[in-house]
Amino acid sequence: MKIGIIGLGFVGLSFASVLASRGYSVIGVDIDKEKLKKIKNGMVPFYEPGLQSILKKSLKKDLKISSNISDLEKCGLIFVTVGTPQKRNGEIDLTMVKNVINKIGKLLSKTRHKPIIIIKSTVIPGTTQRVILPILQRISGKKAGKDFGLVTNPEFLRETMAVNDTLYPHVIVLGGDNNIFLKKVKRFYSNLHHNVPIVLTNYGTAEIIKYANNSFLATKISFINQIASICEEIPNANIDDVAKTIGLDPRIGNLFLDAGPGYGGSCLPKDVKAIIGFSTKMGVNSTLFTAVEKINEQQINSIMKLLKQNIGKTQGKKIAVLGIAFKPETDDTRDSVSVKLVSRLVKLGAKIIIHDPKAIENARKIFHDKVKYQKSVTLAVKDCQCAIIMTGWKEYEKINNETIKHMAKKFIIDSRRIVSNKNLNAKYFAIGLGQKI
Ligand code: UGA
Repeated sequence: MKIGIIGLGFVGLSFASVLASRGYSVIGVDIDKEKLKKIKNGMVPFYEPGLQSILKKSLKKDLKISSNISDLEKCGLIFVTVGTPQKRNGEIDLTMVKNVINKIGKLLSKTRHKPIIIIKSTVIPGTTQRVILPILQRISGKKAGKDFGLVTNPEFLRETMAVNDTLYPHVIVLGGDNNIFLKKVKRFYSNLHHNVPIVLTNYGTAEIIKYANNSFLATKISFINQIASICEEIPNANIDDVAKTIGLDPRIGNLFLDAGPGYGGSCLPKDVKAIIGFSTKMGVNSTLFTAVEKINEQQINSIMKLLKQNIGKTQGKKIAVLGIAFKPETDDTRDSVSVKLVSRLVKLGAKIIIHDPKAIENARKIFHDKVKYQKSVTLAVKDCQCAIIMTGWKEYEKINNETIKHMAKKFIIDSRRIVSNKNLNAKYFAIGLGQKI
């Protein structure tokens, strides 16, 4: 059976590469011609550890790349993995999903096959039933459940772990009517992954599972960040000891308790906003998620406050920001807290020097010549009044007294507690650590 995958971002390209590497015949489709050119040449258009080598192997097997959805005519399964970014008003933007669904509708109208359309894109509850299904039926003139299948299949992979999470997912969720098409998709997944739980449910439940998952993760982060702020007021207190200890309670679990400057990236902030918007629309008060979001925004305020207390007005001051990617091992700067911090500092007239091992090019697309960029940490912090560690890159563990020797004022804000045990000859403040006495 041939498999089509539409949208070759983190999810789509990882899935296409993994499936082809496992012997499936796959066609990956995207409308971005530049991107397609790179992918065809075995180049991943973004930085994702391990993906390039599996892509190269897959291209030698049966992975084809195309810009045309009509090439998926003979595919039995068609996965939709296009993005659902955030609109200005916080709602998700369904433009890409709708465009793709329209084209699939046209394809359905012409084919005598009965493919199954599988929605992996994150969509608000009700979207599959009330938006996607009607478009498919209207354009194709065919009936879901009879002439084609429609299944919701949310994705839980993390950037930087995309290959691993695609190979070894912790769960597969399939939402749809309990018919032959749903059973077929279940069979496909149980052949692909042995011993992975498969949850069969309806469209709406599958859709809300994705939001429940991401908003719970965001809640864990805001929870630990709130405790971190309290720790900062307790002499010698250490948030990592707190997290490690409460994480030993199996009811809590030890993951996602790493305090920091707040969650960023293309998913958690967007999904928390979307669930707040959705529940408000439904008349459900989203008290918890509103607090989760507020705590997330406060993290950056406490960094700004520390700066003010220690270097006074930021205007004209040289400040190094170490790490602009939203987390280590990626070049992704989307909704990165560090980007927000730099934007605020630039507005206040600070002279910013950005260092990041992978994300400088993406940072340049945002800040152009409004800031400076440095490839070496030592040069980035030189003559600065403050250095702020924002992303937990391993490289920053190497920072020592030699690295900061030429800072104008030796003042460090470490949002990830990376150099907390270095005894640096500097005024040092870390998120979640009480002042040493
Ligand atoms: C997140 C989810 O973890 C995935 O399960 C989901 O599939 C994905 O969104 C999505 O919806 O597409 P991702 O955006 O790759 O994955 O990033 P995470 O690893 O979740 O990190 C998000 C943010 O939280 C980062 O800024 C990270 O630094 C921060 N974080 C994470 C913390 O501050 N502390 C932690 O303990 C964990």
